[in-house]
Amino acid sequence: MATDSVTPVPSLEVSGLAFAYPDGHQALFGVDFSLARGERVALLGPNGAGKTTLVLHLNGILTAGAGTVRVAGLPVGRQHMAEIRRRVGIVFQDPDDQLFMPSVREDVAFGPAAAGLKGAELEARVDRALTRVGMAEFKDRPPHHLSFGQRRRVAVATVLAMEPEILVLDEPSSNLDPASRRELADILRSLDVTVLMVTHDLPYALELCPRSLVLSEGVIAADGRTGELLADDDLMRAHRLELPFGFDPRSVSVGA
Ligand SMILES: Nc1ncnc2c1ncn2[C@@H]1O[C@H](COP(=O)(O)OP(=O)(O)OP(=O)(O)O)[C@@H](O)[C@H]1O
Ligand SMILES: [Mg+2]
Repeated sequence: MATDSVTPVPSLEVSGLAFAYPDGHQALFGVDFSLARGERVALLGPNGAGKTTLVLHLNGILTAGAGTVRVAGLPVGRQHMAEIRRRVGIVFQDPDDQLFMPSVREDVAFGPAAAGLKGAELEARVDRALTRVGMAEFKDRPPHHLSFGQRRRVAVATVLAMEPEILVLDEPSSNLDPASRRELADILRSLDVTVLMVTHDLPYALELCPRSLVLSEGVIAADGRTGELLADDDLMRAHRLELPFGFDPRSVSVGA
C-alpha cells in the first residue's frame, strides 16, 4: 500500500500473515486487513477460527511464520518490541492473565512505570485510567478480591494507562452483567483510539463497531459494514455465526 504524504499511515496493517503452532497445527493461512486510525472494528468468527492467535501477533507475543504486522508503520518484531508493546494494548479474555500484583494500583502502574513514568505523573496516569473505568475507589484493593466484572475493568485500565494507539479486546463483554456490558461500551465509545474487538456478542459488535471482519479457518472471509454482514444469512451460516433469538440486525439503528 502507498504510504506517501497524502495517505495516512494505518494504525494496523496485517499482510499475508500465516502461522503454525509448534505442534504443526496451522491456525492462520494468509490474513490481510488494515485499520485506519480511530476506527472501531469487530473481529468475528467461530470457535477455533484463529482470532486469539491473530491477536497474539499484534504485539509480538507470537511471531509470524510468514507475512507482516505493522503498527503505525512500525513492523512488529524484536527490533521495536518495547515501542510496539506501548502502542498496542491487549485486554485478554481472562483478566487473571493480566492482573498479578498485590493491589489494583500496582497493576495499573506496572506498564507506565516500566516505560519510565514516576512520581506524581505516574499517580495521575493511574488515577485517570481507573476513573475512566469507574474503579478509582478500588485502587488499594487486591485484584483477586474483586468480582470478575470489576477485574475486567481493572484489566482495561492497565491497558488504558499505557495510552495505546490501538486497543485490542478479546471477548470484552463475556461474563459481564448487562449494566457493566453497557458501561464498557460507553467507555469504548468515549476513547479516541483505534479499537479491534474480538467478540461472539454480535449485537455488541453492531452497537460499537461500524465495520467487522469475519475470520474463518484462518483467513478473512468477509470485511464490511457490520450491519450488512450480520444481515447476510448465507455468510452467517457459512461461518457458524448466529444472532441471538429474536435479534434482527435490520431493525437496529446505529450511529457510527
Ligand atoms: N498452543 C496451541 N498449540 C496448537 N494449536 C493451537 C494452540 N492454540 C490454539 N491452537 C489451535 O489454533 C486454532 C485457532 O485457535 P484460536 O484460539 O486462535 O481460535 P479462536 O478463534 O480464538 O477461538 P475461540 O472463539 O474459541 O476463542 C484452533 O484450531 C486451535 O485448536
Ligand atoms: Mg479465542
